[in-house]
Amino acid sequence: MADLTTKYMGLELKSPVIVGSGPLTIKVSDMIKLEENGAGAVVLKSIFEEQIDKETDKGFEEFDEYLTHTESHEYFQSLTKDYHIEKYLDMLSDAKKNLSIPIIASINCRKMSSWIEYADKFIQAGADGIELNYFPITSDWRVTGEEMDKRILSFAREARRKISCPLSMKIGSRYSSLSNVIHMLDEIGIDALVLFNRPFRPDVDLKNLTTSVGSVISGPDEYAEALRWTALMSGEVEMDIAGNTGIHDGKTAVKLILAGASAVEVLSVVMRDGAGAIKKINDEISTFMDEKKFSSISEFKGMLAQEENGGDAWERVQFLRTIG
Ligand SMILES: Cc1cc2nc3c(=O)[nH]c(=O)nc-3n(C[C@H](O)[C@H](O)[C@H](O)COP(=O)(O)O)c2cc1C
Repeated sequence: MADLTTKYMGLELKSPVIVGSGPLTIKVSDMIKLEENGAGAVVLKSIFEEQIDKETDKGFEEFDEYLTHTESHEYFQSLTKDYHIEKYLDMLSDAKKNLSIPIIASINCRKMSSWIEYADKFIQAGADGIELNYFPITSDWRVTGEEMDKRILSFAREARRKISCPLSMKIGSRYSSLSNVIHMLDEIGIDALVLFNRPFRPDVDLKNLTTSVGSVISGPDEYAEALRWTALMSGEVEMDIAGNTGIHDGKTAVKLILAGASAVEVLSVVMRDGAGAIKKINDEISTFMDEKKFSSISEFKGMLAQEENGGDAWERVQFLRTIG
């Protein structure tokens, strides 16, 4: 088998295939299977500020009579948060005891708050890195694109100031100038970017005339956006890039690496096919490397990035020829 080792956000990985944050990275027994099948690292299920806030409110309603003061609410909120953080820390240290691959803790950040502080606790419990899942959406027309950019950048600055361990950000692709935002995140000193998160997809149930949940897992043709932006930006920035969304096989992983990714994060394919999917992806990367006589990932990483490749292939958005 070819040498699949790679360096990502300052971590040495034995394979570029990382299992992304989600339902497979909650239970340690599942994570052991992911490691056994060749995962290079795992990103733990995110701790969600939004969810904890909701649970605090629910609890607050139940104990309404006793918790009538703002201070009580704050106190209750801090207890609920501490409870969740403690549970997360237990899971993390248990994973750390049982796995030898890097474990990246994940925080879903909706607003700037105390969450960055918890990163310290995660590091003390053994996290090898922190991934911040930052995906704001605003339906408020008064908020400009400039304001949205300011928010992500001030968030990243604050995170970088407080978090000294390897730090990555998982972002969405909808910025008025994505290349500028990526460049600025690099200047701030973020170690790696995950391109891109796949957001929850709302849908409509026509039978019951209600809102519904769209497809939860990605399809194998959803990787084009990650591929394009990895190719466009990998040669422009110091930070590492992990491709994400729609990476279902080794060939697609290889495409992302050729575009300049140091690693890929996969989830849907493993949810669908089981942990064996990771082994299959590793085998396919290895077969490609043997066929093309590449002895290491770094030998072909970025070979087709915009910087290396020139031309406008990665910037093309229109189909020039539609007939004939
Ligand atoms: C059921 C489910 C739960 C997820 N939970 C999280 C999460 O807690 N934090 C996060 O950053 N991403 C979460 N994701 C997003 C995945 O980590 C990943 O970014 C996305 O599924 C795209 O990758 P894929 O095409 O390989 O599935 C979740 C995805 C799914 C399907």
